[in-house]
Amino acid sequence: MWGGRFALGPSEALDALNRSLPVDHRLWPQDVAASKAWVHALGRVGVLTPTEESHLLDGLDRVAERLADGAAVGAPDEDVHTLVERLLYEEVGAVAGKLHTGRSRNDQVATDLRLWTLNAIDQLDADLAALGRTVLARARDGIDDILPGYTHGQRAQPVRWAYVLLAHAWPLVRDRQRLADARRRVAELPLGSGALAGSGFPVDRVLLKEALGFRSVSANALDATGDRDFVAEVLFALTLAGMHLSRLAAEVVLYASAEFGFVKLADEFSTGSSLLPQKRNPDVFELTRAKAARVLGDLVALLATLKGLPAGYSKDLQEDKSLLFDAFDTLGLVLPALTGAIATLEVNRDRMRAALDASLRATDLADLLVEAGVPFRESHGLVGRLVREAERAGVPLDRVAPAVAAQIHPALGAALSQLGTWEDSVEGRATPGGSSRKSVEDQLEELRKALLPGGVP
Ligand code: ARG
Repeated sequence: MWGGRFALGPSEALDALNRSLPVDHRLWPQDVAASKAWVHALGRVGVLTPTEESHLLDGLDRVAERLADGAAVGAPDEDVHTLVERLLYEEVGAVAGKLHTGRSRNDQVATDLRLWTLNAIDQLDADLAALGRTVLARARDGIDDILPGYTHGQRAQPVRWAYVLLAHAWPLVRDRQRLADARRRVAELPLGSGALAGSGFPVDRVLLKEALGFRSVSANALDATGDRDFVAEVLFALTLAGMHLSRLAAEVVLYASAEFGFVKLADEFSTGSSLLPQKRNPDVFELTRAKAARVLGDLVALLATLKGLPAGYSKDLQEDKSLLFDAFDTLGLVLPALTGAIATLEVNRDRMRAALDASLRATDLADLLVEAGVPFRESHGLVGRLVREAERAGVPLDRVAPAVAAQIHPALGAALSQLGTWEDSVEGRATPGGSSRKSVEDQLEELRKALLPGGVP
């Protein structure tokens, strides 16, 4: 394909380093689709006769059939583009040599990879939405289950289990939005850029754009052939999504421990230990955490690859594909397993309840004192003293002797008797976005719309 100017062929060592077919073979459907669009474009400007055009189109269809039957397996070619072209020669003979007119592998690979990425984004979006809907379904079941809410890993205030789950659903909506936003910039057509300076033939790039389902046409060929911002952006979106899954996983690992016991993993999503017969290990969640690190590694490797490059194509860019594929593959493995594991989690509402201790009412007490006219800073200090007394006496916060409470502040006794139930406490935080039933129900409804399949609204 490029050997004309060399007396000798490439060394085996160079070939082994240079070949990208083992990674990029999966771009063949995109390479065939882009080639067919290119054949039309060449036909329209008279580079191909109508007969040549139809030979090439039929030939590309047969190439696609052969590739679908595994023709790429063990093929000796340098990359997917040379593979498709060689197979086309086998199908249609010398006219295959006209396909590459006015085109370069530089604009070709950028086009193929963008096409592949558009499809991959849509699949990942569907997986993220499916996880989100599962979290939502579990939240609907968990609206009446109350447990301690934590900050700094310390019991802070009572919240609904549904509310905790929804805190992990909202990031998924942002992930979908980020992917949808990045998708717009992925859908910019580089084809027709040639190697760096544009195509030598007046092909209609707008028609190419429409034929291949892109949104716009790249503005500068040198930029378009060397631009991998779309890979970086999508890898960042995937990294952040992976990080969200990791945080959800970290929380479940904690709650599945015997110490918390808030949830129990279903048999089909638990693993055992080869030594410890009693173990029910949360491997799904641990691997979810670890895989997020791997996706971050893909992003970092891509950015490090890009930063030293001048404008235009450099062979360094060939490395983009293994990173992007790896990130999508990784999340494609994680998401179905995580979704299944969340769908089948058994919730132990008694353990959640049992973890609620009266210290979680400290803020409620301080708020009640505020209602009795005490400035908040002062009421915070007064309740702090009550906490200290409770700790000293070894009793729950609401069991401090009334006389002791009254000594701290005369309004404390009344406040203690007004505390009410755990539900009252949760309902007390009714601001939009708070943990009250109304707020949780509003969120459930908003999230239902934001997590519908078929793209984020
Ligand atoms: N296999 C190459 C890649 O993935 C295709 C582009 C090669 N371009 C070139 N001028 N050698 O980046």
